Formats: sequence, C-alpha cells, structure tokens
Amino acid sequence: MNANGGDRVLEVRDLSVSFRTGRGVVRALRHVDMAVPRNKIVGIVGESGCGKSTLINSVLRLLAANAVVGDSSTVLFRGDDVLRMNDRQLRAMRGQKISMVFQDPMTALNPVISIGTQMADILYRLDMTAAGKRERAADMLAQVGIPDPMRRLDDYPHQFSGGMRQRICIAMALMMNPALLIADEPTTALDVTLEAQIIHLMKDLRARFECSMLFVSHNLGLIAELCDEVVVMYAGEVVEQGEVHDLFHRAKHPYTQMLLECDPARIEKASRALPTIQGSVPDLIDLPRGCIFGPRCPKRYEPCDASPPGTYGVNAIHSARCFQVRDA
Ligand SMILES: Nc1ncnc2c1ncn2[C@@H]1O[C@H](COP(=O)(O)OP(=O)(O)O)[C@@H](O)[C@H]1O
Ligand code: SF4
Ligand SMILES: [Mg+2]
Repeated sequence: MNANGGDRVLEVRDLSVSFRTGRGVVRALRHVDMAVPRNKIVGIVGESGCGKSTLINSVLRLLAANAVVGDSSTVLFRGDDVLRMNDRQLRAMRGQKISMVFQDPMTALNPVISIGTQMADILYRLDMTAAGKRERAADMLAQVGIPDPMRRLDDYPHQFSGGMRQRICIAMALMMNPALLIADEPTTALDVTLEAQIIHLMKDLRARFECSMLFVSHNLGLIAELCDEVVVMYAGEVVEQGEVHDLFHRAKHPYTQMLLECDPARIEKASRALPTIQGSVPDLIDLPRGCIFGPRCPKRYEPCDASPPGTYGVNAIHSARCFQVRDA
C-alpha cells in the first residue's frame, strides 16, 4: 500500500490465521496485507472481534495453541520472517527490538517490585553498573514526564496514578530503543484528559526516539490525531487502508464511511467506543459467500453477493476492498 515503498520495519503479507474450536474452524484473519514504514505510526481500527489482537499476536508469535497460520503467510520484521524464526531469534526480537504497551498498565507492571528495579531489570543484557542503570531509568522517567524521577524509582506501581503508570510502561517499552513499539488500546482505561496527554506524549516521543509504532484503537479520533497511516479491519479482513488524511477525507469503503459519519463528540464522550452499526459481525466459522460486509452494507449491489471483492487502489496511497472502487 505504501507506494513510495520506503524501508519497512514490519511487512505482513497474505496473513491468514484460523482457530480450531469444538464448533468448527474460526477464520479470524484472511489474507491480511499491511506494513509499518520506518519512523511512521500506523493505526489499526475496527470493532471488537475483527482480528486486531490476532494480528499483533501473530507478529509477536504469541498465538494460542489452537491457531493455524496459512502456509503462504509471511510476517517480515526488518526483513526476517517472524513465522519461521527459532526460539532464540524470537526471544531477542520480543525483548529488544519490539516492545509492547498494553491497555492495562498493571498487567505489565509487577506490583511488589519497585519501579526502579523493574526498569533496571529490562537492561539486564547491557554491560552497565547498577548505578548507571538507575540513572538511565530515571532519565527515561523524566522523558515521559514523571516529576522527581530519581526519588520515584523506589516507589511501587500502586503509588502512581493510572496515567503515570501508563507513562512508566511507555518508558519501559522505549528503554531498549525498540525498532517497533506496539500499543494495544493504551489509553482505553484512562479518562479523556489523561488520554489526550498520553497521545501528546507518544507523538512527542516518536519525534525524539525515531521509532515506528503500530497503534491499535477503536477510537477514530485518536487514530486521526496520532497516526500517519490507517488500516481499517472488519471481521478478519483489511477493508480499507491508506494515508491518514486521504483516508479520512475520501473514505471509500461503506464500513469506514459509516464509522466516520458518526458524531466524533459521541465517540469521545458517551462510550469512547466505535458507535454501533446495525447488525453484527458475521460468524467467522460460516462466512458469507460474497463481500464480508454485505449483510450490513447499505450500498450492496449485484456483484456483492456472488464473490468477495478484491482490493482496489483508490489512488497510490489508498486502497479499499469494495466493488464500488473497482466500478467507479
Ligand atoms: N484462541 C482462540 N480460539 C478461538 N477463537 C479465537 C481465539 N482467539 C481469538 N478468537 C476469535 O478470533 C476473532 C478475532 O479476535 P481478536 O483478534 O481478539 O479480535 P480484536 O482484538 O479485534 O477484538 C474473534 O472472533 C475471536 O473470538
Ligand atoms: S463490495 Fe458491495 S457489499 Fe461490500 S462493501 Fe462494497 S458495496 Fe458494500
Ligand atoms: Mg483485542
């Protein structure tokens, strides 16, 4: 999709993932293509159950035991296929080169170990003195806006507010200078004011640390503010993707259009979740024959029921999986 082709930190090609269950095979991701160019922030947006976490877990090779990955799928991280890495390569990649920030900071922090010790532990691979590691940890806390960082190193997670804890998680994620930072709904647990502060911080850090980010959110407003490119997912497929302004101003897929038509104020205040579109996500065990969005699509016409649409270019930096783009 990224027409200028520049170097890509992450390149996901034809990724299909199914889960074997007692009810049948859940086809959670189907032929997903997306990429994160170097020093760019790519946002993934879509309703719950559309496959966002399955995509991230595939990148980190943390899929559940009942997952089956398609034979032709590739997930290239800086040119190396993650799906074919051995355990040693995976460990090195997860700890040092890709960092994660989770929705709930408490899942990432150990409640009974001081922040300073947890941060120093991340640096265990580096040949540094204990004092040097403490200094580095305090410096990172300062970078993410924690006041009086040297003293606060001895505090425990519960002594910080929710917003401060998420700042600490971001500091920890950045400590190894990762090539890619993955954030899975990092502000969903915070109130709107703190959310805005964290987004501001992430933009600021991106400029200072030159790291690429994959940012998962169901909040379109945040995606618009933070990201350079957007990937819209629906029921296990990428239905539209492109450069952020182009996609927001010229959305072509009816699903994206329906998301955008909803009042942004409502997204912010009432639920802070995707506004509901009539109908529900299809059963991923028994998929419709034609377009995956067909059963909910107000613009459906005759080709839509016969076979699924391909991905068609809107322009060089924007594509959508909808027959209307092909026939325009
Ligand atoms: N281990 C699993 N076994 C069976 N189904 C799963 C498993 N993990 C996820 N799924 C299903 O895969 C689909 C995508 O889930 P997920 O990637 O968690 O979506 P999202 O993160 O967008 O909410 C959902 O239908 C979910 O129920
Ligand atoms: S292909 Fe048809 S059913 Fe699918 S989103 Fe486009 S118009 Fe709607
Ligand atoms: Mg998820």
